[in-house]
Amino acid sequence: MVQPTPLIAGNWKMNGLRASLPEARAIADGCAGSRARVAICPPSLLIHEMCEELAGTSVLVGGQDAHWETSGAFTGEISAQMLADAGARLVILGHSERRAGCGETDAIVARKAQAALAAGLEPIVCVGETLEQRQAGEALAVVTGQVRGSLPAELAGRAFSVAYEPVWAIGTGLTPTTAEIEEMHRAIRATLTELFGPASDTAPILYGGSVKPANAAEILYAAEVGGALVGGASLKADDFLGIIRAL
Ligand code: 13P
Repeated sequence: MVQPTPLIAGNWKMNGLRASLPEARAIADGCAGSRARVAICPPSLLIHEMCEELAGTSVLVGGQDAHWETSGAFTGEISAQMLADAGARLVILGHSERRAGCGETDAIVARKAQAALAAGLEPIVCVGETLEQRQAGEALAVVTGQVRGSLPAELAGRAFSVAYEPVWAIGTGLTPTTAEIEEMHRAIRATLTELFGPASDTAPILYGGSVKPANAAEILYAAEVGGALVGGASLKADDFLGIIRAL
């Protein structure tokens, strides 16, 4: 079976100012030679300048969300085409903070993924169960349902990744056991194969939620884990590099 190239992406969320650009530079300098693809997804306003800062390095820059339309009367929104125009190569879609806070449904996430592909961006589609859903024994059904609903058919043969981020593990310091991560990632892989066939074996399945240098190796070497989507620990070069170097 083809192994996906690992992807380790930092999601800066609503953190970072122009003064943070040297941190991105330090990440790029420190991860040269990594066998993972490394990406930083800063707030949209920083994308253009970060691309300039990281020109000539291997670090990719990505967005954290994109609208499903290319342009129009959508006050405050940013399109996938605009992200690409600013230099982004990837885009996070369907993060649980947007699903919960902005009412994004699977169908909306799927439309956004179509728009991202049309703009030439590589989607990182996020899925994950809440604590209540896990405690009710629904985690596998919820997450595989999100995969089916959020990934449009157009992803077949295209570069993309899925990020499994249990909502209860985000920013809490809690993580699932390695066995729970492997069980979920295997279920996601089986769903991807069902939807897109063996060509989707190259799509990495990232884990996200309280990844830090101390737990990175165990998570990154778990079965079917093809990288990580890192929040808080991606803001500081030393921490993010500690995760990248665990691979
Ligand atoms: P933390 O790494 O801060 O838990 O955040 C994870 C996340 O939401 C990445 O998208």
